[in-house]
Amino acid sequence: MDAFEVLAENYEFNDIEGRCLAFRRAASVLKSLPWAVRSIGATQDLPCLGEHTKAVMKEILQYGRSFEVEKILSDERCQTLKLFTSVFGVGPKTAEKWYRRGLRSFSDVLAQPAIHLNRMQQSGFLHYGDISRAVSKAEAQAVGNIIDEAVHVITPNAILALTGGFRRGKDFGHDVDFIVTTMELGKEENLLISIIQSLKKQGLLLFSDYQASTFDLSKLPSHRFEAMDHFAKCFLILRLEGSRVEGGLQRAQGDGREWRAVRVDLVSPPADRFAFTMLGWTGSRMFERDLRRFARLERQMLLDNHALYDKTKKEFLTATTEKDIFDHLGLEYIEPWQRNA
Ligand code: UTP
Ligand code: MN
Repeated sequence: MDAFEVLAENYEFNDIEGRCLAFRRAASVLKSLPWAVRSIGATQDLPCLGEHTKAVMKEILQYGRSFEVEKILSDERCQTLKLFTSVFGVGPKTAEKWYRRGLRSFSDVLAQPAIHLNRMQQSGFLHYGDISRAVSKAEAQAVGNIIDEAVHVITPNAILALTGGFRRGKDFGHDVDFIVTTMELGKEENLLISIIQSLKKQGLLLFSDYQASTFDLSKLPSHRFEAMDHFAKCFLILRLEGSRVEGGLQRAQGDGREWRAVRVDLVSPPADRFAFTMLGWTGSRMFERDLRRFARLERQMLLDNHALYDKTKKEFLTATTEKDIFDHLGLEYIEPWQRNA
């Protein structure tokens, strides 16, 4: 399973999208199994496993390792790209650029006067240790309390909901994701700005990148697959005091620090888009991809974070809860914790 993730990432770096997807699917399928694969025969009836995938599995079952995976792991380019993209704000393109300049380590990058780091990347390096360490459930809960307090001082009518991996019941995550909105349509945008201001005033804001809404009803439905959504959102780094976390911080900071930095994402859709946003942000990525594919191929419907469009009836289908969306798709409701694959 880890082997497939290595392969998927490698094909992603090399822009071979089809293969990358194939290995992500395979990893996802194996993860969802309640049993461990001990022989190739046992995988016969599983979906999404192609020839290449099976060949790798056979190798691992037989020799305990895969030649292709080991080659990638020992490949300098791959390792360097992996290292660089592990920094908040550094994507595959920047990583590739740095690699081509001959840079191989963080100190190489930081020592280059010609390299200009943007604000996000500066924060990424500054808080690297903290934000590359997993966030625990208790820490996510504490972050939730902080956001909740900030939101309700601003307006008692606000709606705040946990989403992302923690909503799926995961014990650890790389960040904490929330949806905030208000029943008063149009007021949701100012909400994010007020929350950011409040966090800043409390000295809890280490970084924020606010992206205003570009949501435009008249541009729906979107035929672009996998597009990011257009709602107002912000990517934050918060300062979380250990004293606010039940049972304390994940791990001692070593340097005697009583706090850690945590990555937090907030998205703020208009209230009538809440269910679609919730479904989209709850993930997992693979679950979303498969659900959208199902909608398109089996139901002639377009689903994204904004809306559900019925191509046959040529109309939008409304939803106030996720269950409404599953109903429109003719599916039984799938609980968040069943959406991990
Ligand atoms: P995350 O990247 O936070 O993943 O995106 P996660 O499942 O919570 O796992 P962690 O954080 O690594 O533990 C959460 C979901 O939000 C969607 C993604 O597709 C994913 O399913 N998302 C994220 C959007 O729909 N739009 C965005 O702009 C960002
Ligand atoms: Mn997340």
